Amino acid sequence: MTIHISEDGRRFHLTNGRISHIMAVAEGKLVNLYTGAAIPDDGTVDFGYLIDDRFRVQASTIGEGGRRYAEQQRFEYPEFGCGDYRHPAIEAVQGNGSRISDLTYVGYTVSDGKPTLDGLPSTRATAVFREVDDAAASDGAGRAESAAPTIGGGDTGDAADATGAMTAGPAAASPDAQTLTVDLRDELTGLTVRLRYTIFRDEPVIARSALLRNDGAAPLTITRAASLNLDLPDADYEMIAFTGAWARERTPQRQPLHPGIQQIESLRGASGPYFSPNAIIARPDTNEDAGEAFALAFVYSGNFDLHAEVDTYGATRLQLGINPFGFAWRLDPGETFQTPEALLGYTDHGLNALSQTFHRIVLDHLQRPAWARRERPVLINNWEATYFDFTEDRLLDLAALAAKAGIGLFVLDDGWFGARTSDRAGLGDWIANPDRLPNGIDGIARRINALGMDFGLWFEPEMVNEDSDLYRAHPDWVIATPGRARSVYRHQYVLNFANPRVVDAIYARMHAILSDANVAYVKWDMNRFITEAFDATRGAERQGELMHRYILGVYALYERLFAAFPELIIEGCASGGSRFDYGILAYSPQVWASDDTDAVERLAIQYGTSYFFPVATMGAHVSITPNHQTGRSESLAMRAAVAMFGTFGYEMDLTALGEGELAEIAAQVAFFRTHADLLHNGDLYRLRAPYDHRQAAWMCVAADRSRAIVGDYVILGVPNRPKSRLRLRGLEAGRRYRVRSTDGAFDAVRSGGELMCVGIDDTDLGPDFAARVYLVDAR
Ligand code: GLA
Repeated sequence: MTIHISEDGRRFHLTNGRISHIMAVAEGKLVNLYTGAAIPDDGTVDFGYLIDDRFRVQASTIGEGGRRYAEQQRFEYPEFGCGDYRHPAIEAVQGNGSRISDLTYVGYTVSDGKPTLDGLPSTRATAVFREVDDAAASDGAGRAESAAPTIGGGDTGDAADATGAMTAGPAAASPDAQTLTVDLRDELTGLTVRLRYTIFRDEPVIARSALLRNDGAAPLTITRAASLNLDLPDADYEMIAFTGAWARERTPQRQPLHPGIQQIESLRGASGPYFSPNAIIARPDTNEDAGEAFALAFVYSGNFDLHAEVDTYGATRLQLGINPFGFAWRLDPGETFQTPEALLGYTDHGLNALSQTFHRIVLDHLQRPAWARRERPVLINNWEATYFDFTEDRLLDLAALAAKAGIGLFVLDDGWFGARTSDRAGLGDWIANPDRLPNGIDGIARRINALGMDFGLWFEPEMVNEDSDLYRAHPDWVIATPGRARSVYRHQYVLNFANPRVVDAIYARMHAILSDANVAYVKWDMNRFITEAFDATRGAERQGELMHRYILGVYALYERLFAAFPELIIEGCASGGSRFDYGILAYSPQVWASDDTDAVERLAIQYGTSYFFPVATMGAHVSITPNHQTGRSESLAMRAAVAMFGTFGYEMDLTALGEGELAEIAAQVAFFRTHADLLHNGDLYRLRAPYDHRQAAWMCVAADRSRAIVGDYVILGVPNRPKSRLRLRGLEAGRRYRVRSTDGAFDAVRSGGELMCVGIDDTDLGPDFAARVYLVDAR
């Protein structure tokens, strides 16, 4: 892994043999020369020819007397107003109303490791450092305690002055990441933008973010600050976005780029169910196993904007960041604004390889080490078993059967607190309801623990029912616009998490419950989006900050809970999977993927989710049949064969089952636990997409390729089914494997080559809603 810097400090090449990102300073501007597959660079190659400076009619130059034309440059962090008519990465409104800026290169630093981002989740490297943002704190020479950054500057300023001091944690002997920072400055306003590029040693991924600092004398209002801008030289791509709604989250949609803008976004105050804040930009012939693609992923849970703009010359500008709609952040002199992190990944080996890269980034660089790659308990959740209708004894009956089946965690869902016997009341009153839980949370937790199980609890920290003590005491804590009606969903309002007092109060209540009882797990739900956005604690000039401050409040609560309870598992949830993103995954090892627990629907939801999210992160439960969302009936075996390709659990009334089914569940739990490591840490290969409602298949392969587990499904069978062969992936061609299906229908020894090229004949699988799980073991 290297970050090559040319001798004159004006060309930067980040590469690790799997990806290259090359930039240069041209006419004072930071421009992109190339991003894609790794290009060899011994330091002598001049990539300057990649700058497009041919004259075009109607094209304005960069600056007076400039030789280059703004509209055809591939900028790293473009502004609007100086001849580039595409959407800018940044916009800063000044005292006189002007929105023009002109960012020119100041200097750079290179450091081992990766900085943390203030108040925001981000990926990690072994060496972590914190930048000191205030340049005044610098003694004039950039430094790091054990990993001295290389410093360079342009001819417009002294780099050391511009880059600020750094303090570094101990650098790894062979760093697993390196960070290049490049500072740009708008001389007229004093706005400084520090672009950060971290390249990971082992993955074709570059993490990017921008730190804005007002070094001028007058306030600025930032109305746009992308986390990532990538200008590509052509437009021969398709965008794969993941779209949906409640109960049908994250279905891939693949569409060619076209002149103009293709955009996905959220304006809900959460990443939302409509679009996941990630996308793949693939060549038209790219498939699961071959071909080129970029992936963009946002480490953020709020309003986002991800778009591809194909310009008048057939080039593509990709942008990802906080959604500029309604966003306005006041930056007083001396203040900084940190954008969230965006990840850029690249593959020339197809989409399975791209997903595997991002799965490793999540498991090894994003998730909290406390639970990343660590086996989590199989759980039972009482929601679909009881809904709001339960007593402690009823819960214990359910838990006792679950314990007998080997389930390790009992989760008490909604309805345990305040006056919450329906969704009309009590939200926000995080005190156990004594009618239901006479011995409080501690009492039920002890009884559950006595069964040999961990205990978990549902919260919806960000919300309040109007009929609640919390609302009666603090009606001004909800997000509402003065003088306007307040939209309601599920009889609840959104608390203003942009107000630190609100976060303090919710933290205090959660802390009291969690420190009073042995709670191993929290389900953090979030069931409605923000309406009538207004922050009653701030003035007119700061209203555009609410949506971002709200998410910062959510992250702050997560941080405080983990500071107090480092081993706690917090499962994310938002009416199912409506806030399933890399921001939440930085805290939650698992996220409830959807309220839709129907196995057939889950095939589609988990398949789509898997493009960016590892199997280990997808909350998936076996539920009752007929299914509560679809009315469909599927065998217990089929339901488990789908849920095990997720964080496996149950959500059904076990007391309504017979001995036979309970024994089957015990066997499923034992099977899952035996293979949990392979399912959760293996490389996932998508084999057959479920979107034609006919069939689906996927598999997980151990890193050493000695073992694999395959899920093979028929959704709607075809009469007289044509010959079908399931071709496996990821095995060693020359190795021999025994392949057994758990239903006993298939047992054979074949070479990896046969399994991948010929495949397993599964013509007999069916008719409807059928599943077969194969275990593959090297001989
Ligand atoms: C949401 C969640 C469900 C359940 C209910 C409880 O809908 O997605 O899993 O927790 O809330 O009210």
